[in-house]
Amino acid sequence: MMQRRRVMVAGTLLIAAVAMGVAPRLLFGSDQSRAKEIVQQTCVQCHRLEGKADSRFNLKAPDLIWAGSKYKRPWLIRWLTGKEAPLYAKGYRWDLTEVPFKHPMVTEPEANAIADYFAEHNKDPRVTVGAFDLSKVTKFEATFGGMAYKAHACLGCHVIEENGKFIGGPQSASLVAAGQRYDQDWLFRFGQNPQDFVPHSGEFLADATEPQLRAVIGFLMVQGVNDFKYYEPWTSPEFGKASVGRGKAIYKEYCMQCHGATGKGDGPAASGLEPKPAIHANIAFDQVPTEYLYNMINHGGAAMGKSANMPYWGLTIGQQGVADVMAYLKATFKGPK
Ligand code: HEC
Ligand code: HEC
Ligand code: HEC
Repeated sequence: MMQRRRVMVAGTLLIAAVAMGVAPRLLFGSDQSRAKEIVQQTCVQCHRLEGKADSRFNLKAPDLIWAGSKYKRPWLIRWLTGKEAPLYAKGYRWDLTEVPFKHPMVTEPEANAIADYFAEHNKDPRVTVGAFDLSKVTKFEATFGGMAYKAHACLGCHVIEENGKFIGGPQSASLVAAGQRYDQDWLFRFGQNPQDFVPHSGEFLADATEPQLRAVIGFLMVQGVNDFKYYEPWTSPEFGKASVGRGKAIYKEYCMQCHGATGKGDGPAASGLEPKPAIHANIAFDQVPTEYLYNMINHGGAAMGKSANMPYWGLTIGQQGVADVMAYLKATFKGPK
């Protein structure tokens, strides 16, 4: 009786709060006993909240062991309140069903309480907060990551959206709008060794380098994020303190052997190369778009659809080196006289 009256009072308060424009979360933020009750009575009928990673054929639903680290909160709320499309188009256990599963729904305040509960009880200690810096993802990196995504067969089992169409094999979790769903640090940790989360999910990035893995994660994290703000390396502090003098020294050490001492494209290596190294002396570098120039030097010719004999310099001379040599090119070569 008491119990019931309390619920009714809370309900009335909630309506009043919503009417006043107060977020229900503030009211129910402390309501952890209710969340615990739902999680431990309802959710556990299908999901595991603790234990070790296990094959999906032993599970009824994806594990929530690391739920406190895996999701972006707004997505989780939308999912729990029934506002998201199924993740597994053929059902999670496609060996048993062939149709998508209609997930049980909870109210918005309950969803918020559950999200708080996960944040409190289901953080994954293996996930390093800040391991993946989303603010450093460049447009080039995301595009390159998209190519790697396809080259590593990811499309074979995970659907993504491309030019308004869904493409890929709908076997595992949909990665459409993945950027709205995943916490980037969790996703990065997952990518480092998927077997730590789901045995038999494959090691399709095992041969990828760390920059490649980061590019694929960057690609996934911009999926569904229309206003994503890409990082522009040429706005970084390194570029602010670029030095023509240091750039000149770099040019002598690393560029001259192909591009020639005075940028005429006549260095010792040039005679054996086809296409020939660009003739820097003929280029008005002030007018070359910064993004193109940066990508060409930092990522190399192959990455830009040009000759692979133009090396990628980012790892050799670092960001300061790229900034310096760009300053040198702009200060030195003004185009044909
Ligand atoms: C009757 C079984 C069942 C119950 C009960 C259930 N779920 Fe699920 N849940 C599933 C299935 C199946 C999926 C996979 C969704 C799909 O196929 O699209 C899923 C997916 C999810 C996901 C996304 C998992 C991921 O990362 O892919 C979350 C989060 C989730 N459930 C939370 C909950 C919570 C919280 C509760 C309790 C309020 C709950 N579920 C109750 C079966 C259930
Ligand atoms: C042969 C099929 C297959 C291929 C190819 C594949 N995956 Fe998966 N992937 C899985 C399975 C199985 C899981 C575990 C989840 C499940 O049970 O469906 C998974 C899980 C994932 C998850 C976590 C999903 C979640 O919400 O829990 C991500 C992210 C992911 N894969 C990304 C990738 C990427 C990136 C590639 C390419 C490098 C890739 N996958 C290639 C089958 C595949
Ligand atoms: C091993 C030979 C080699 C070295 C060393 C080399 N390059 Fe190149 N570079 C090339 C080749 C070959 C091309 C032409 C690519 C093409 O047209 O397909 C090129 C093209 C370029 C371009 C493109 C110009 C344009 O108009 O598209 C720039 C800029 C450039 N190199 C800068 C540099 C800088 C800066 C360095 C030193 C840090 C350097 N290169 C070192 C071989 C080299």
